[in-house]
Amino acid sequence: MDPITNPYTPGAGTPPPELAGRDDLRETVRIATERARAGRAAKSVLLVGLRGVGKTVLLDRMREDAEAAGMQTLRIEAPEGRSLPAMLAPQLRQALLRLSRNEQAREFGHRALRALAGFARGLKIKYQDIEVGLDFEPEPGLADNGDLEHDLQALLEAVGLAAQKAGTALILFVDELQYVEEEQLAALITALHRAAQRQLPVMMVGAGLPQLPGRMGRAKSYAERLFDFPDVGPLPADPARIAIQKPAAEQGVDFEPGALRRIVLETQGYPYFLQEWGKHVWDVATASPIVESDVEQASREAIAALDESFFRVRFDRLTPAEKRYLRAMAELGPGPHRSGDIAQVLGKKVTALGPTRNQLIAKGMVWSPSHGDTAFTVPMFDEFMKRNMPGDDWRKS
Ligand SMILES: Nc1ncnc2c1ncn2[C@@H]1O[C@H](COP(=O)(O)OP(=O)(O)OP(=O)(O)O)[C@@H](O)[C@H]1O
Ligand SMILES: [Mg+2]
Repeated sequence: MDPITNPYTPGAGTPPPELAGRDDLRETVRIATERARAGRAAKSVLLVGLRGVGKTVLLDRMREDAEAAGMQTLRIEAPEGRSLPAMLAPQLRQALLRLSRNEQAREFGHRALRALAGFARGLKIKYQDIEVGLDFEPEPGLADNGDLEHDLQALLEAVGLAAQKAGTALILFVDELQYVEEEQLAALITALHRAAQRQLPVMMVGAGLPQLPGRMGRAKSYAERLFDFPDVGPLPADPARIAIQKPAAEQGVDFEPGALRRIVLETQGYPYFLQEWGKHVWDVATASPIVESDVEQASREAIAALDESFFRVRFDRLTPAEKRYLRAMAELGPGPHRSGDIAQVLGKKVTALGPTRNQLIAKGMVWSPSHGDTAFTVPMFDEFMKRNMPGDDWRKS
């Protein structure tokens, strides 16, 4: 097929041509945001799933849904190494400036901007990366204690009041939430809790890796009651087929059932892999309908492309010791694996490997589904590790 009209979109955060299988989750979030706007109890929602399952694109779509329904939104991505207040402040400012355009909300919007000024000034010493334009002077005593937990609470309350006056809700969309430091996560949870108690229209829709619920629970023990943690997993067979079939059909290109079955099998329904397979199958095929042998040929190219992008970017961030640890895990299969078994493959003590395992968790490469277990956060990473570090050399040192 013509590569110029290739509809598939493998890539981090790249919207797919067809967002398959996520309607129920979108509806859950739509209901929650409407409840929040109406001042009814609504749980914040955290999308939890492995790498490449489509958390970011779903979050972005939910944000579009919310904006289309007249909600105020902001979006941040928690990167490794920047503070939450620093990410939040400029986005909150913009949301507040928009809210303040509303006649009914102006006074409260301006008050919230004063709270933001106090917040930024008070926390600047602790979080030096905070940089935000100040539209008003702080109001003494308003969100300016210099204590994140207290000040974020006061700030979100002021913001919530402004949103309420404007007849809308403020929805915070936060990606990669697992990278937020525990103490900052705790402050965010408390602030959202407080806003919910006061029935203010503020809520969060977040996304993160499977370690997120555990992290939230450690940050604040009541977090698990305060949030819904829907699983974002690989697509079941039907939506996986639709993800491939529909974009092609829109251009008059069909698939034989065997070809579709093969794609679903090879990708296991993982959205990133579906896009990668779709792209290569399209380029390989010379006529419609696309047949199974097209898929067979495209599979090799799709895997090679993943090795050079999706897997490679993660691999390149690892130290030699971390690579060896993951290679040992791969030796045992897809996982999860017991720490003792991994240590045995490496001929080391579990305690000696503890720091490496912790670094891998902090980097978001592995997580612990239950005590003493370790699993990859990247689907099919075990096979990549074996392709990429073949032989037995890695066992040495
Ligand atoms: N529901 C879906 N149907 C079809 N394709 C999808 C779907 N969701 C995501 N994709 C595709 O999967 C790829 C990965 O999506 P995305 O970057 O949102 O995943 P992610 O879960 O945020 O990954 P990471 O944890 O690495 O950030 C993109 O190419 C996207 O177009
Ligand atoms: Mg993402």
